[in-house]
Amino acid sequence: MEAKEGEKGKDGMKTILVTGGAGFVGSHLAIGARARYGARVVAFDNLKRRGSELGIGRLKAAGVDFVHGDIRCLDDLEAVGPVDLILECSAEPSVLAGYGDSPRYVVQTNLTGTINALEVARRHGAGMIFLSTSRVYPMAAIAALAYREADTRFELMDGQAAPGVSPQGISESFPLEGVRSLYGATKLCSELLLREYLAMYGLRGVINRCGVIAGPWQMGKVDQGVAVLWVARHLFGGALKYIGYGGQGKQVRDLLHIADLEALLYHQIDHLDRLNGQTFNVGGGPECSVSLLELTELCRQATGKTIPIESEAETRAADIPWYVTDNARVTAATGWRPQRRAQAIVEDIAAWIAAHEEALRSILA
Ligand SMILES: NC(=O)c1ccc[n+]([C@@H]2O[C@H](COP(=O)([O-])OP(=O)(O)OC[C@H]3O[C@@H](n4cnc5c(N)ncnc54)[C@H](O)[C@@H]3O)[C@@H](O)[C@H]2O)c1
Repeated sequence: MEAKEGEKGKDGMKTILVTGGAGFVGSHLAIGARARYGARVVAFDNLKRRGSELGIGRLKAAGVDFVHGDIRCLDDLEAVGPVDLILECSAEPSVLAGYGDSPRYVVQTNLTGTINALEVARRHGAGMIFLSTSRVYPMAAIAALAYREADTRFELMDGQAAPGVSPQGISESFPLEGVRSLYGATKLCSELLLREYLAMYGLRGVINRCGVIAGPWQMGKVDQGVAVLWVARHLFGGALKYIGYGGQGKQVRDLLHIADLEALLYHQIDHLDRLNGQTFNVGGGPECSVSLLELTELCRQATGKTIPIESEAETRAADIPWYVTDNARVTAATGWRPQRRAQAIVEDIAAWIAAHEEALRSILA
């Protein structure tokens, strides 16, 4: 399938810009969008994330144009030329960004960068799918929910007083008052500006507040990409620690397979008029939630290896004991539900690492 600059793809889109296009989510979307829409797809990335350079060969093989650029710089983005759709996937995605360090990079990439992308959208009338985060919800409010300690995980107690929380997880009506990390704050600020751009300039866009996303080609590290980090340590060796909440590994997250996220985002692109202006919580949901302890067991089953895991009782800044996504709103609007469970996610990651062991060893080991 060839789509050169100026030619329209099958949905009338000539050019799709994927910022952060060499990263985990961005590279999957760029490759998928190229095959699906036949438009010119530009993956734009400054390769800041270690391992994102491995995306370049995959992108080129799929017919995606790679542009080395920095989203903090509007000139870099404008050099891409007219675009019809922006999938905004660039970020400093670590919730620890800025702690004990300058906030400049996370603020300029996640907030100034989004504003630059919005400017490009405004100039060309492009639509935007924005990758936000569950981290917009304040940490203290989540930590203050009532939990019981079960054998392998913390569980939410019934009858929570806070709005927007139920056994199905955290919904979009969970209160936004409170501190949320610079990462979460830059994303929430970006959401607000995106909504203003949509209203003021008549653009179309959708916001997705994603929980933990996982799968092949995620360059997992200690502060981001826990599922890949866990599987990689089981395969390559290296230290793992249960940190915080007594050091027992009972903190819980829901995991969303990248292929499930992709299916949702293509649906959103295909129905952008109808879904315009909406904000969705998006994640694996209760059926795909795991504690670190449970993740360890899944890794043991998938890799056949058991590794020692240390314990550190003290809770670190920005950690929360539990987060599970309530997908009710996005399911009602789109019919979408995640299909893949935690075991399948861990198995896919293990198979991917085994297939690319040498390339990945220096990055993930
Ligand atoms: N992975 C998750 O669990 C998760 C969860 C919630 C939200 N998100 C959001 O999804 C999006 C994609 O995340 P990801 O997991 O693919 O992260 P990633 O780190 O794999 O990808 C981000 C990409 O952005 C690039 N980048 C960083 N700074 C840049 C800059 N200044 N200019 C241009 N490119 C830059 C990096 O090199 C990297 O390739 C992000 O917006 C992230 O906040 C991710």
